[in-house]
Amino acid sequence: MTAKKAELRASTGIQGLDKMLKGGLIPGRPYVLSGGTGSGRTTLGMQILQQGVRQGERALFVAIDEPPGEIRENVRYLGWDVGKIRILDVHPSAKAYSKRVSMVEIAAQRAVGSLREAKDDARAEALKQASPDLTVQSLQLMLSQEFKEFRYSRVVIDSLTTLKRLSGDQEINMGIMSLLRFLSEANLTCLLITDVADATAVEPEAFISRGEIRLHRIMTTSKVERCVTIEKMRGTAHDTVPRPLTITREGIKVEAGRKVPKAALTMLQGVPGSLR
Ligand SMILES: Nc1ncnc2c1ncn2[C@@H]1O[C@H](COP(=O)(O)OP(=O)(O)OP(=O)(O)O)[C@@H](O)[C@H]1O
Ligand SMILES: [Mg+2]
Repeated sequence: MTAKKAELRASTGIQGLDKMLKGGLIPGRPYVLSGGTGSGRTTLGMQILQQGVRQGERALFVAIDEPPGEIRENVRYLGWDVGKIRILDVHPSAKAYSKRVSMVEIAAQRAVGSLREAKDDARAEALKQASPDLTVQSLQLMLSQEFKEFRYSRVVIDSLTTLKRLSGDQEINMGIMSLLRFLSEANLTCLLITDVADATAVEPEAFISRGEIRLHRIMTTSKVERCVTIEKMRGTAHDTVPRPLTITREGIKVEAGRKVPKAALTMLQGVPGSLR
């Protein structure tokens, strides 16, 4: 690859993955980062943001799945300084606690026997009240405010799947399409973390996004194997072979020159859509 071509790519900070992508992601586009639970999506998302920060870019992590404190703790364990990554806290329970539904109010409304019961009721009520606030539309509004204040180059939304669940069914596909359009117009490299959709589902992000990186966690008879596939990547040649991935104390490593062990590959081929 020539130096000029490499300049046009956004490095993921993972040598092997950059190699699979022939230099890195094409900047300024939205991508899907899919995988099963525990496959390493949050870690990879953070690592990509960390690389941006290292290059002097501004990076934003939208925390929906996990409370920001836990995310910081997990990543700090990997020895990274995440202080420069801005974390937008839209985790529903964090919002619920900050709302502080009055226990006295709850106790007055219901015949609760003890202070503890009132407290539990208040929490449940707060969560119920907080969740409807977070929808695809309200997140887009929050992001447009955020982007007016700061000029971000990299954004991770963790996760789009949970955001959809909180949003409910109403015109969800329209909402997602509008969010994706907004993100591409904002001209930033964005990773939307999702669960692996079932093969028959038509998810708008799957066809509107410019590419999809998928992480796999495979339980073979003897151990857990991990690998990564590039399911789709518009505008560039890319590796079509699944490559082994490991999560170490230094973060994610991808071995672009190695093949996935046969025992794991056989099971991977059974995953619908994984080798499209
Ligand atoms: N230092 C480490 N060494 C080895 N494995 C690690 C290390 N740190 C994390 N892991 C592995 O990474 C997994 C978590 O990865 P991560 O949270 O990024 O996955 P995820 O796809 O975001 O999962 P979730 O569904 O929980 O959101 C852990 O369950 C663990 O197996
Ligand atoms: Mg996660």
